[in-house]
Amino acid sequence: MFPRRKFAVVGSLIAAVASCSRPQATPTPAPGAAAPGGAPTAATTGGPARRVPPSRDSLVTLRAAYVAQVMAQIAGRENEPAERVFKNVQVLKGITAAELVRKMDKDYSVAMSWNCTNCHRLAPQGNFASDTSTDKRRARFMQQMQDDINHTVLPKLYPKDTPAVTCATCHRGYNEPPSAEYLLPERGKPGGLPPQNARPGGPPPAPSGSRGH
Ligand code: HEC
Ligand code: HEC
Repeated sequence: MFPRRKFAVVGSLIAAVASCSRPQATPTPAPGAAAPGGAPTAATTGGPARRVPPSRDSLVTLRAAYVAQVMAQIAGRENEPAERVFKNVQVLKGITAAELVRKMDKDYSVAMSWNCTNCHRLAPQGNFASDTSTDKRRARFMQQMQDDINHTVLPKLYPKDTPAVTCATCHRGYNEPPSAEYLLPERGKPGGLPPQNARPGGPPPAPSGSRGH
């Protein structure tokens, strides 16, 4: 099984999450978190040997270097199918090479709050094809699961205008998707999504008073 992590720590930091910065003590001790310029250090607050991941902002910078490295490697072939340009693409077929790289950065990495090195241990050596990382293999499984949900399961309920789940739908920046009680703040409240627009043909608005509180 996947390692369980302490939700209590996440809960105590919910205010920091609301302000959009990854709190330093958030437990994301993924193997391979060590990255150029972002070496993890032992946290003083989270018990012995807990690794502190880089902030979300510094992750953007760390990843930009890898994105630039890959884009330079594939210069001139950006718009060819990913499975032809890269060596080991098993699931993400039918998109271009540039789209795959963008998905890695803006979708996979953002959903997990990870650097490329979390899934690509040999990225510093320019090797993204290797499958040595357990997390890369888990991510590939997740992509297959997500494709099943979006292409097989959801169309049964919504044959037209089928909605889609993404990595972020579940992960929300964490290794382990947060449980319901951590999914505050509410829509329309500070830190939350904007209020929902009325959807034509969508479900009627909830009767007032139905949302608890
Ligand atoms: C959550 C894990 C995860 C993260 C984070 C991640 N990747 Fe990936 N990456 C994968 C998986 C899984 C594949 C293989 C997909 C498939 O088989 O269809 C892949 C494939 C690739 C490939 C194709 C390699 C080849 O030769 O087959 C490149 C290039 C790549 N990633 C670049 C990046 C870059 C750059 C970043 C950071 C911006 C990144 N990845 C972040 C999981 C990840
Ligand atoms: C339907 C919800 C859902 C979706 C969609 C989803 N995941 Fe997951 N994912 C999970 C759950 C649940 C776990 C197990 C977490 C745990 O360890 O408690 C998990 C675990 C993982 C792990 C292992 C994390 C660890 O603790 O090491 C990776 C990596 C991962 N997911 C990547 C992805 C990527 C990349 C995508 C998008 C392609 C994705 N997931 C989409 C629910 C989801």
